[in-house]
Amino acid sequence: MTAVVLDGRALAARVRARVREEARAAGVVPSLAVVIVGEDPASRLYVRNKTRAAAEAGFREQTIALSADTSEAALLSVVRRLNDDPGVDGILVQLPLPPQIRPQAVIEAIDPAKDVDGFHPLNAGRLAIGKPALVPCTPKGVMTMLREAGVPVAGARALVLGRSTIVGRPMAALLTLADATVTLAHSRTRDLATECRRAEILIAAVGRAELVRGDWVAPGAAVIDVGINRTGEGRLVGDVAFAEALPRAGWISPVPGGVGPMTIASLLENTLAAALARRGGAVGSAA
Ligand code: GUN
Repeated sequence: MTAVVLDGRALAARVRARVREEARAAGVVPSLAVVIVGEDPASRLYVRNKTRAAAEAGFREQTIALSADTSEAALLSVVRRLNDDPGVDGILVQLPLPPQIRPQAVIEAIDPAKDVDGFHPLNAGRLAIGKPALVPCTPKGVMTMLREAGVPVAGARALVLGRSTIVGRPMAALLTLADATVTLAHSRTRDLATECRRAEILIAAVGRAELVRGDWVAPGAAVIDVGINRTGEGRLVGDVAFAEALPRAGWISPVPGGVGPMTIASLLENTLAAALARRGGAVGSAA
């Protein structure tokens, strides 16, 4: 068996076109504000990709670029200004932040109704109890990939590798809501290979280049690779040894061109949901 390779670029393009059309049909121009602190080239590129996608969807967008020596108080005052601006629907503060700024203080300062990253404790808590919420973009994009590929989720044994608040924990919550039987594995998990081999759905989000070997993959499993790692030779690879896993998996997402583009598509979905909710529509969705 050779796996179906999940084309995240193509699917993300379809999602983005649908978001653009939904906003147009609703007569809404969602507005996204992205805040970046410092000069990290990777973060700058991510932010450019996010705002460009927002513009292409017909959204209004602004980038607020602050110097690396910005104080926490100064960043909090920018966040409060965006909270109070009725012309802003979605606020995203790009992570990581410089060491003088506590990320949790910033996340908790964002108006939960504008929290298009879904990182605020109110949204995280609502997701955890299965109530409508703005949901973190990467796990939301993974759920879209699974759904569009027709991967059976209800009743499936799912393993989430990595317990970060950005990916692993919300991923486990979303799979639980979709009726999978979920194991959340991490750096202290004993015998990771055996856990992986039991999984019908394997989500790798640990940031360790090619940690998951081909013989860790159950025949026919859906393998979603959230990792983006650069090898010593400068190659971009995921958390899964793709070439080894390809002949065993049922479905597999590549790196690059898999989950990455879906994260941005989900951000547009969240921004539209926030815009509609702020105009009196539904309060986001938990999927
Ligand atoms: N840095 C890496 N991923 C993300 C993300 O999804 N949102 C934000 N705000 N920063 C990130």
